[in-house]
Amino acid sequence: MSVEIKKGLEGVYIDESRISSVDGENGIIWYSGYNIDDLVTETTFEEVLHLLWNQHLPDRDELQELTEDLQSSRELPEPVARILERSAQRARPMDLLRTAVSALSFSDPDPANLDDLPRKLIRIVSTMPTILAAAYRIKRGEQPVPPRKDLSHAGNFLYMMRGEQADPDEVRAMDATLILYAEHGMNASTFSSVVTTSTLASPYSSITSAIGTLEGPLHGGAMETVIDMIEGIGSAERAEQWVKEKLENKERIPGFGHRVYRVTDPRCAHFKREIDSLKTEQEEDWVRTIETVRETVENHLGDKGIWPNTDLYSGTMLRMLGIPPDFYIGIFALARVAGWSAHVFEQLEENRILRPRVRYVGETGRRVVPIDHR
Ligand code: SDX
Repeated sequence: MSVEIKKGLEGVYIDESRISSVDGENGIIWYSGYNIDDLVTETTFEEVLHLLWNQHLPDRDELQELTEDLQSSRELPEPVARILERSAQRARPMDLLRTAVSALSFSDPDPANLDDLPRKLIRIVSTMPTILAAAYRIKRGEQPVPPRKDLSHAGNFLYMMRGEQADPDEVRAMDATLILYAEHGMNASTFSSVVTTSTLASPYSSITSAIGTLEGPLHGGAMETVIDMIEGIGSAERAEQWVKEKLENKERIPGFGHRVYRVTDPRCAHFKREIDSLKTEQEEDWVRTIETVRETVENHLGDKGIWPNTDLYSGTMLRMLGIPPDFYIGIFALARVAGWSAHVFEQLEENRILRPRVRYVGETGRRVVPIDHR
């Protein structure tokens, strides 16, 4: 029987969705009908979370209710706090986040009860920033800062990282990051959350699966490898030669290429805007280095459809907020849990377990030989 194999599931559509559309030809991202360019300048992460979960932007009462639900669910349960105290000094931030999210289930009396899904997902979305901020402070030998109930999702995260309120410009930059990374169709980590959900596993398992998948350098990990690249290049003058050598060795340049986009990722322009508004004199050469890398890669690979993706710029903006590179992917997760959870809800509306096939190319009919004669 001849079957067509789609490596990497390239071009395979597994379902219909109302959550988002990524137009790779024209470089447009729609969140339930709204262009992300409008959402990132005119709404907040809390409004976008409501939009992705309910397919409409909240009115003032709906926003108030969601905001209060989030603000009252930020505290860490005791078992999770203990895991962080014991392990945060030596474990990687994403390992801590994945393990702590999984451990949230310990303090849920009925973790697999999917009738209680909204409350569970609110708790996960709301506790993840507390987990990441606590890991950050323990790694620095500082006490975790308890969450406040009077700050926005983005503002409270920066407050818990720093122990003091961030200025409005920085809160806006963090809020924009959470909106820009909130959702992106059926990317690898979202696919993991959907596969796990399709077996009717708990949302703790679905989100833990997604965090594990996000970690790889081909997906969420590229934010950090872009920073390593810019640091390795050292100065804008060396960027062109550096890129040319990598391309001659057939190496991948982090921050470029995408399975869906055939033009520049539309999220880049928003991160570039935030970078231009936050950058100081000392960062001029850093920004020039990125632009030289971009021009060189576009000149060499643009005709192959390889263009900048969001990770080329997002790490630099987080670096300007004083966040260390090994925490960038955790911040990606704080945002993308909005999309992961939206797809968990949608999968369960008309669930069918995801179970693809592989075409077997091995032998058959082999006879077992006793071990001493093998
Ligand atoms: C994210 O899916 C999503 O939506 C992801 C994301 C989201 O919001 O969820 O957008 C977030 O993950 C962004 C991508 C971050 N990753 C990187 O920046 C890592 C570098 N990029 C690549 O590894 C690659 O482009 C991928 C993984 C992003 C896409 O891989 P594909 O679609 O499987 O493409 P491919 O590996 O088949 O490459 C096709 C060709 C190859 O050349 P040939 O072997 O055909 O000659 O393009 C080349 C690749 O070598 N290529 C690159 C390249 N990316 C692809 N060459 C140099 N540098 C690159 N970055």
